[in-house]
Amino acid sequence: TFPTPEDLKDLQGELGFPKRAEDFVFFTIQDVAGFKQALKQLQPLITSTADVQAARKQIDDHKKCNAPGLLKIVGTNIAFSAKGLTKLGVTESLGDADFAAGQLADAQNLGDTGTTDSSGNFVPDWLPQFKSAIDGILLIAGDSILTVEEQRNKVELVLGKTINAVLTVNGLVRPGKEKGHEHFGFLDGVSLPGIQTLTGLLPGQQAVDPGVLVLGQNGDTVTRPAWAKNGSFLAYRQLNQLVPEFNKFLNDNPLDLPGLTRPEGSELLGARLVGRWKSGAPIDITPLKDDPALGADPQRRNNFDFSDATDQSRCPFSAHIRKTNPRTDLPQAAVAPHQIMRQGIAFGPEVTLLEAAAGKTAPGVNRGLAFVCYQSAINQGFSFLQHTWANNINFPPKPTLANPTEEIGFDPIIGQNGGDKAGRVTIGQNPNAQSTPMTLPVEWVVSKGGEYFFSPPISALTGKLAA
Ligand code: HEM
Repeated sequence: TFPTPEDLKDLQGELGFPKRAEDFVFFTIQDVAGFKQALKQLQPLITSTADVQAARKQIDDHKKCNAPGLLKIVGTNIAFSAKGLTKLGVTESLGDADFAAGQLADAQNLGDTGTTDSSGNFVPDWLPQFKSAIDGILLIAGDSILTVEEQRNKVELVLGKTINAVLTVNGLVRPGKEKGHEHFGFLDGVSLPGIQTLTGLLPGQQAVDPGVLVLGQNGDTVTRPAWAKNGSFLAYRQLNQLVPEFNKFLNDNPLDLPGLTRPEGSELLGARLVGRWKSGAPIDITPLKDDPALGADPQRRNNFDFSDATDQSRCPFSAHIRKTNPRTDLPQAAVAPHQIMRQGIAFGPEVTLLEAAAGKTAPGVNRGLAFVCYQSAINQGFSFLQHTWANNINFPPKPTLANPTEEIGFDPIIGQNGGDKAGRVTIGQNPNAQSTPMTLPVEWVVSKGGEYFFSPPISALTGKLAA
């Protein structure tokens, strides 16, 4: 059964390194032979899932005995784009067409905004770095910016001039009470799939076969080269969030329900767009009022499945968490293959008073989510969720509604239509007028690009890739 002790040492830290800060260093390989040599020296610095488990235990022990001071925690992972693997001389297919083609080729399918050039090619409005070659990504996470910088120096000392860093994104957990909350203010990292034999399952947690997340393990049906076993595909997305604009929309459009003040109506609208209150409490369990104790309780906050209501009085079909994990709206066998392991982190500054007052992000300011997720097939995981579920105005199926063919619109958080000026429409937000469409004025989440990577097993860093 998965995982053997060898698997735990071979798997990189996909399953979630505890972190306060994380640098994403996107690089090109400048000197292939030198890089292959350096990879062997880098290998001891790479964090395995066994290391992640040890770090988590250390943190728990530290908390239990009320030890003073902060623990120093650091983790480093590395992954390669298809271009990067080709440079390293890998000729076999890893069995994933989206990975092989790269994210740029997927941009239009994902609904990103862009233009068509004179040769008829779609050119997305991305950061230039994501439109030119990126061979790999280093993920360096730790308990503080200082720890991350220190580790980054070590890594760069090993890799030296064999790579060129073309872009660095500095992820940073938000301050104070916002710790763990993404920039719109909602607790993130709440519902993640679980592998029974790896971590056990919390009540309501979606169980998946290891092969849904890890190559070559039970449940991965694709034929892959033997050396790729224990690898995983990493989808990275640079997602800007227009926070003042999002908040202005909530303030301007409070849900008008009996007994709710205007601010409460705005708060409820936000919760219905996401499917959870800012505390993490699911609206399917607590539809009209936040319950912070529920939001903080891992034993209870995922224990719901949308089956308590046949209409949208508890949770809109279009809510972000229902679009991306429809639970019992679909049979289990149709949901499980599309589970992803999300491991993103916020980036960018907090909203200033001036921006909040203007309801507008200041020019030149970039804040958002450095979105990272792992899966064993990109067209079942990230790309599928974005294209086939979030952007699909007829998803999920709703046979229990009076009009089952009624459109339910976009995922109001991430659903996108290539910037179509007709706007994004979402339905079901008002529990007392469930068929009334709501037009969302802007895309609050703006894709600035990304890439698909292969996060190799650690054994490949001194084996196949270094050879
Ligand atoms: C859940 C926010 C992008 C897929 C959530 C939650 C929040 C959130 C607040 C609920 C808490 C949790 O379960 O962790 C955002 C924001 C995004 C974003 C602000 C962009 C800036 C994405 C993207 C995808 C995605 C691009 C995939 C295409 C999911 C999934 C869940 C989730 C699968 C868990 C649903 C469940 O199991 O209940 N997101 N998200 N998210 N999000 Fe996102």
